[in-house]
This record gives sequence, structure tokens and C-alpha cells, in this order.
Amino acid sequence: MTRVLLPSSPILNPSISDFSGFRESSAALLTSRYLLLCRKARASSGVLSAAAMADAPLRTVLVTGAGGRTGQIAYKKLKERPDKYIARGLVRTQESKEKIGGADDVFIADIRNAESIIPAVQGIDSLIILTSAVPKMKPGLDPSKGGRPEFYFEDGSYPEQVDWIGQKNQIDAAKAVGVKHIVLVGSMGGTDPNHPLNSLGNGNILVWKRKAEQYLVDSGIPYTIVRAGGLQDKEGGVRELLVGKNDELLQTETRTISRADVAEFCIQALEFEEAKFKAFDLASKPEGTGTPTTDFKALLTQIYERF
Ligand SMILES: NC(=O)c1ccc[n+]([C@@H]2O[C@H](COP(=O)([O-])OP(=O)(O)OC[C@H]3O[C@@H](n4cnc5c(N)ncnc54)[C@H](OP(=O)(O)O)[C@@H]3O)[C@@H](O)[C@H]2O)c1
Repeated sequence: MTRVLLPSSPILNPSISDFSGFRESSAALLTSRYLLLCRKARASSGVLSAAAMADAPLRTVLVTGAGGRTGQIAYKKLKERPDKYIARGLVRTQESKEKIGGADDVFIADIRNAESIIPAVQGIDSLIILTSAVPKMKPGLDPSKGGRPEFYFEDGSYPEQVDWIGQKNQIDAAKAVGVKHIVLVGSMGGTDPNHPLNSLGNGNILVWKRKAEQYLVDSGIPYTIVRAGGLQDKEGGVRELLVGKNDELLQTETRTISRADVAEFCIQALEFEEAKFKAFDLASKPEGTGTPTTDFKALLTQIYERF
């Protein structure tokens, strides 16, 4: 097998330890374009075989909710793998765009407005949906009086508008451009219509999320549904991940997962046929128990449920 060495260039090793690194002339975007050009040049000179090119085509992946807590990790992870992906982000505001580096590959759109999504999906191969209605806490809680926090959704930003209409708009827009795979992140708990999360701000959030999941299944597009357990802002890659079905994991002690692990799972799902046309509940063992997951193909093979 011919081993291809890329010419050494500082641009091939951008320092992307945090989002401020992205600002440096969108180094990761340039890197992926540069790699693509290198590949094309080598293929035409016969150095890189057609088979090798087919093995590793660069894929353009859009992460929506890229300013959100899981979305920004997924976007960053894609940027750190320019040999595989051309990353794109969709955020709602200029402020969110700046937060994740402000690169040209970050589009501003409101998913409730179908037309606004169109520029972001042009030419994408895959879509990772990480948008969600975000409940807000009502002011005036006095913890010293042992009160329980109450939540509300802003007008127009109820789960019906964001988790149903907004996700549906994204699926339609992606379908129109021939997307090859959609990964949709939702939540465990959806099998129980009386789940407490549905009462949150009277939003019925799990009901609307599930409706969007069903819409994706019915769309005919290859999909992966990820129903995460309680999200934690903890380090990723250090726990054994657990996949399940029908909310069975909710009956166990292992019902949480780090946002970094969810982001990684979404990206790994793009790599394996075993991820397609399936719905995964996702949680992890506590750190220090079990073996940190590295074999995602084996993990994805454990589930057969289409919904
Ligand atoms: N929290 C949990 O414990 C939990 C458990 C299981 C599953 N989940 C699910 O996991 C996913 C990721 O959760 P997360 O906590 O990381 O998300 P998050 O931080 O709440 O991010 C949600 C993102 O959606 C964006 N968004 C909302 N409305 C939008 C609109 N109309 N147009 C464009 N973007 C819009 C928000 O943009 P802005 O930044 O502009 O607001 C935000 O960036 C969500 O689907 C969530 O429901 C959460």
C-alpha cells in the first residue's frame, strides 16, 4: 500500500484547544479545504488511489444548536477532525456565533423559520440536531424558604414551536438537499406521557420531541435517534457508555451522561452503518466503574430498535 505523506505545514496542525483558536483565520476550515485540495492533487497525479479516496471522503456536517452546551462540543469535535469532516454550525444569534469562534462556517438562523435554515443546509452530507426549547426559571425563588423552582417557556419558544416545528423544519430542509444521515438528539422519558418533564412550564416537551422523532423516522432519511439521560457537564471519554431501549435505563441507577459523551456518540454515529435506522437510549456508568467506551461499532450493534 502506498503511504501518502502530507507536506508539513503549520496550517495542518492548528492549535484548537479552545474556541478562541477557531478565530485564528478559521484555521480548521482552511485546513479541511487544504486537505481536500491535497487529496484531489494526489488523486489526479495517481499517488492516492481512487479506492483510498472512496474510503475517506470528506463529509460536510451541520450541527444545529451549535451554541448550546452539547452543540458547541459537537461542533468543536468536528473541527478537530478536518481529515474527515467539514464542520458547520447553526446558531440563533450573533452572540452565540461569537461564543463558538465566529467562523464563516457558522450560520445564524431560527429553526422556527423554515426559510432561514436553507443557506446552512446547502451541500451538507449529514445533520446533527442539537436544538431544543430551553425552559427558564421563574424569578423570586427563595432557597432559604425551601421553595421549589418553577419554570416557564418564553412566548413562541415552547417545545411545540422548537422541538416539533423547528426540528421538522430542519428535517424538511435537509431532505430537500438530499442529506444522507440525520442524527437527532432527544431525551429519555418519552414512553411515559406523565413524565414530570412534560409538566415543566406546561410544555409537554417529551411529547413534542417524540413527535419530531417519529417525523424523522417517517421521512425515509437514514437516521439515528439519541435519547440521552440526564446531561452533565463532565469530561467525556472516561466512562463506559450504555445504550438501551424503551426507557429501560431509567429503571436503573445509571441514568446520566456527560454532554461530551453525547457529542462524541453523535459523531461516531456518522461513521457506522450500525447506527442507522435506530433509536438509542444513552447513559453511562459512573466514572471509575466499567471500562471507558472506545469501540462504538460494538456499542451501536447492541440495539435493533427502529423507534
Ligand atoms: N438537560 C438535560 O438533562 C437533558 C437530558 C436529556 C436530553 N436533553 C436534550 O439534549 C439536547 C442537548 O441539550 P443541551 O442542554 O446541551 O442543550 P442547550 O444548551 O439547551 O441548547 C439548546 C440550543 O438550542 C438552540 N435553540 C433554541 N431555540 C432555537 C431556535 N428557535 N432556533 C435556533 N436555535 C435554537 C439554543 O440556542 P440559544 O443558545 O440561542 O438559546 C441552544 O443553543 C437537547 O435536545 C435536550 O433537550 C437534555
